[in-house]
Amino acid sequence: MKKAIYPGSFDPVTFGHLDVIHRAAEMFDELTVSVLNNNVKSPLFSVDERVKILQEATKDLPNVKVDSFSGLLIDYAREKNIHIAIRGLRAITDFEYELQIAQTNKLLSKGKLDTVFLTTSLEYAYLSSSSVKEIASFHGDISMCVPKFVADKVYEKYGYSSVN
Ligand code: PNS
Repeated sequence: MKKAIYPGSFDPVTFGHLDVIHRAAEMFDELTVSVLNNNVKSPLFSVDERVKILQEATKDLPNVKVDSFSGLLIDYAREKNIHIAIRGLRAITDFEYELQIAQTNKLLSKGKLDTVFLTTSLEYAYLSSSSVKEIASFHGDISMCVPKFVADKVYEKYGYSSVN
């Protein structure tokens, strides 16, 4: 069985992430989307909230599981017996950061964890969770960035009921 992990912060999940999830789910028998429990960042959504949002957003994909992890990705992948990490590449600006993570993971895992990059579909290349949060914090329209139920939850965090 071909398995892969798609790790990330997903704070919140965007249409760009969902595009990667749909495409990776076609390529692998089982895809685990896993939310990093990262103490350093101060997220908008708790890990539990992000897991629930991802479960809702992927409920129509039977071979997609949602989970969370702390610590090193290579340790988590070893526990799950998974040897492929998926990451999305939006633009050349992502490449240096992603290459560094991929090569570090390959080295630390002694070659056991490889990374497969999916180039984000062009219509989502501009999207990032950070810009979604910034736009929503000023009550701007994020309907082209995230599913409606996610947008409602983001606005709620900033004290708005929905966009005007
Ligand atoms: O969505 P993000 O924040 O860009 O995802 C980054 C992520 C989760 C892939 C990366 O930070 C990660 O895997 N962190 C876990 C810690 C780890 O394994 N670090 C070693 C690789 S640099």
